[in-house]
Amino acid sequence: MKIAVIGTGYVGLVSGVCFAEFGFNVVCVDNNVAKIANLQKGLVPIYEPGLDVLMAKNVQVGRLTFSTDVKSVKDADIVFIAVGTPSQSDGSADLSYVYQACGELAPYIDDAVLVIKSTVPVGTTRAVKEFLRNKSCRADVAFNPEFLKEGAAVDDFMRPDRIILGVESEKAKTTLSRAYRPLYAFNIPILFTSLETAELSKYASNAFLAMKVTFINEIANLCESCGADVNEVANAMGLDKRIGDQFLQAGPGYGGSCFPKDTRALKDFSEKFGVCLPLVSETIKSNDGRRAKMVKKILAACGDNIKGKNIAILGVTFKANTDDMRDSPSLDIVDALIKGGACATIYDPSFSDQAKQIFRDIKFSEKAYDCCDGADATIILTDWPEFKALNLRELRRRVKNPLLIDLRNIYPLSEAAAAGFNYYSVGRPFQKAESA
Ligand code: NAD
Ligand code: UGA
Repeated sequence: MKIAVIGTGYVGLVSGVCFAEFGFNVVCVDNNVAKIANLQKGLVPIYEPGLDVLMAKNVQVGRLTFSTDVKSVKDADIVFIAVGTPSQSDGSADLSYVYQACGELAPYIDDAVLVIKSTVPVGTTRAVKEFLRNKSCRADVAFNPEFLKEGAAVDDFMRPDRIILGVESEKAKTTLSRAYRPLYAFNIPILFTSLETAELSKYASNAFLAMKVTFINEIANLCESCGADVNEVANAMGLDKRIGDQFLQAGPGYGGSCFPKDTRALKDFSEKFGVCLPLVSETIKSNDGRRAKMVKKILAACGDNIKGKNIAILGVTFKANTDDMRDSPSLDIVDALIKGGACATIYDPSFSDQAKQIFRDIKFSEKAYDCCDGADATIILTDWPEFKALNLRELRRRVKNPLLIDLRNIYPLSEAAAAGFNYYSVGRPFQKAESA
């Protein structure tokens, strides 16, 4: 079986590499010439644990190739569309990349099953089918949402919780069943649904997770006023199997390329169907206010005076184990600190090029401890594992002022205080340094 994947971003590249690892012949197509040139040289354009090794292996055995030429999809049994669907200013999903890709493919895919993997509003796959028919393209059309998380993308793809396949023909059902057959050995549930159900399952899942994160952030606000500890509350809640312990980590609000855009798109298209989703609207509103709240927290901890202060920022990507800066909470938080007159230094373990482009005027350190040298305040914005392993006593020796503001709650309260830090975290009581 030959598989083509259009778009070699976080989803397309991981999907292409993993389908090749399943044993299929895969061509990954992108219209970004520089990206494809790098991939052909063996350079992985994103930070994603484990992806480089799998990619090199599958290129070497000849199952995986990269191309800018859309004609290379000829003879493919399945063509996955994995291009971006970013937010437009009114919150709706921008589908222009999907339609552009489908328009370019139409002359070459008559015998293939065209599968949309990009996250698209309900009704889009059916509209794409119509669009292809108007171009005299007879390809079958299906929708297969992708549920991988950045930073764990390879594992999520190779061992998903479920596969959802929105199909309308026996051919699409059979062909996609073959593509995912390597997962049968692991008893991964495969659900065949209508196109609309598959499309909505994706948005409903993301919105529910975004709501869960927002809920614990609101409980964290309450903890700060009533003296409870949000980590312990989350632990107590998560032990209830009906609730589950994941996505209950309080922090600076959700970011990334998906939760913010998908909650907005869900709100937008549900209203077009004449239905309001107040919980989703409140989630968006609550999360939108979260970053300003974090800035206030930082300012208060700094005595409302950051002018000329050296602030060390540990982690700027939207979460750990990725270089992705899209809609990262750091964008607003660091910006506010700079506008307030602070002098920031950043360390991020991904050495993200995106971050260096965005924070052009800010100094980047190569190591966490160096970043904190002489700092008046140290702020943790991303819960990278290596920050959890920092020797806080060594860190205390490097900073000028022992003020640690941890927006990811990565240290036990007693540990930070014992190392000599005045420790502020989220939804947990302030800890005064034991030996500042
Ligand atoms: P991305 O922006 O990282 O990658 C998209 C790629 O598509 C880019 O490389 C771009 O050059 C390419 N492209 C655009 N138009 C093209 C065309 N006409 N022909 C060929 N290539 C083209 O996007 P992403 O983060 O991988 O997300 C893709 C889709 O998957 C989105 O709808 C997103 O919501 C969804 N999704 C993303 C994730 C994630 O973790 N990032 C997870 C699940 C689902
Ligand atoms: C999310 C979903 O988890 C994936 O299933 C989905 O496929 C993907 O969106 C998508 O559609 O693109 P991702 O955005 O990579 O994946 O990252 P998450 O781990 O879900 O984190 C999203 C945001 O929520 C991050 O800013 C993260 O820091 C925050 N978060 C997450 C918390 O603040 N607390 C938590 O407990 C979990």
